[in-house]
Amino acid sequence: MGQGQVSFRRLEDSTASDWELLTQAFAPFLDDLPNRIINQMRELAHDHGGFAVNRLEHCLQTATRAYNDGRDEEYVVCALLHDIGDILSPAAHADLAATILKPYVSPENHWMVEKHGIFQGYYFFHYIGLDRNMRDQFRDHQWFERTEEFCEKYDQPSFDPEFESMSLDDFVPMVRQILSSDRLRTKGAEA
Ligand SMILES: [Fe+2]
Ligand SMILES: [Fe+2]
Repeated sequence: MGQGQVSFRRLEDSTASDWELLTQAFAPFLDDLPNRIINQMRELAHDHGGFAVNRLEHCLQTATRAYNDGRDEEYVVCALLHDIGDILSPAAHADLAATILKPYVSPENHWMVEKHGIFQGYYFFHYIGLDRNMRDQFRDHQWFERTEEFCEKYDQPSFDPEFESMSLDDFVPMVRQILSSDRLRTKGAEA
């Protein structure tokens, strides 16, 4: 076995000292998450899906609008990552983003990201044979207005090639801050 790797082949044969090693190995892996997230965001630049801007630029515009509007760091990072699922889960992209963010953000921000696809549909579902008012199923939900506002102000206007968005590098420190392992530990302690 290589250095730093356990020797068991089946979990049922693992020992306490194996799990000490595995737990130690998990910490740097978790610390590296922001880098993997940023790399995945770069993948979004390779497709535009027919829109006037590519998928990364759409995310940058959404986050820049939220930032310029004075939203806090956590909200801005949610805005940046809201379509990160476009590549790996085109049929459920909002769920993928919400799942990634869930351990690091407030329940209201998680809900907003998770439901943004349905709320965004208000602007186009009627053109593709769907009900633009699908979001109305959540009309009485405590975070309806929050999510409606996210789509109206930041998500739906962000397909504009003329818009001056911040760069992905500008957002990297915020992504590192919000998706940091320390924050995860603090939030875990709160739960
Ligand atoms: Fe989306
Ligand atoms: Fe979007």
